[in-house]
Amino acid sequence: MSRLPVVVLISGGGTNLQAIIDAAERDLPIDIRAVISNKADAYGLERAKQAGIPTAVLEHQDFPDRESFDTALMELIDRYEPGLVLLAGFMRILTPDFVRHYHGRMLNIHPSLLPEFQGLHTHERALEAEVEKHGASIHFVTEELDGGPIILQASVPILPGDDADRLAARVLEKEHIIYPLAVRWFAQGRLALNEDQQVVLDGRIMNTPMQLERATQ
Ligand code: GAR
Repeated sequence: MSRLPVVVLISGGGTNLQAIIDAAERDLPIDIRAVISNKADAYGLERAKQAGIPTAVLEHQDFPDRESFDTALMELIDRYEPGLVLLAGFMRILTPDFVRHYHGRMLNIHPSLLPEFQGLHTHERALEAEVEKHGASIHFVTEELDGGPIILQASVPILPGDDADRLAARVLEKEHIIYPLAVRWFAQGRLALNEDQQVVLDGRIMNTPMQLERATQ
């Protein structure tokens, strides 16, 4: 099977990137053409280099406004001609033009069971809200921040004595499973976003997000 060209955007440690690199080194049919960071010190860049993947840094401070940064980022990404763009801990709000340009071919991972806890500090907020379970979601990126159609989720229990770090670690373990899995579906041509902004998996419209437990049954 031919490999789907992919560009990954990061801002930080890149453990999700690593999970995707590891899967690609096993049997995930993608070719990671580049890893791009908006922070020069993102450890994820090291991970990419160690895997022999080209890297680039585009720092948003070097641009006068959000539009000019996003335009430059789009130009940089498109040089690699990706069929799929992955946001993997890329901590930027994107402009509508950028999001539209990658419509139906850009995924994000968010550390909550969306639509709960959009935005930042999801683990702290889940603990404060005293919810019973928390988790992570993979979604198509649309103009609504953290609001695009959800593809796949994984839940974890909140346990007595949890703090944000322990909870984050438990969620991250699941993130490393669900991101490569959703990418696999896309790369295999099984996953798409239709004209009505619905997630289609294996030809079926998904009215509720797929849960990891069900996906791996
Ligand atoms: C992950 O928990 C990811 O879900 C989150 O950032 C972390 C990045 O970790 N993303 C967001 O909060 C996006 N709004 P990583 O760099 O180790 O993959």
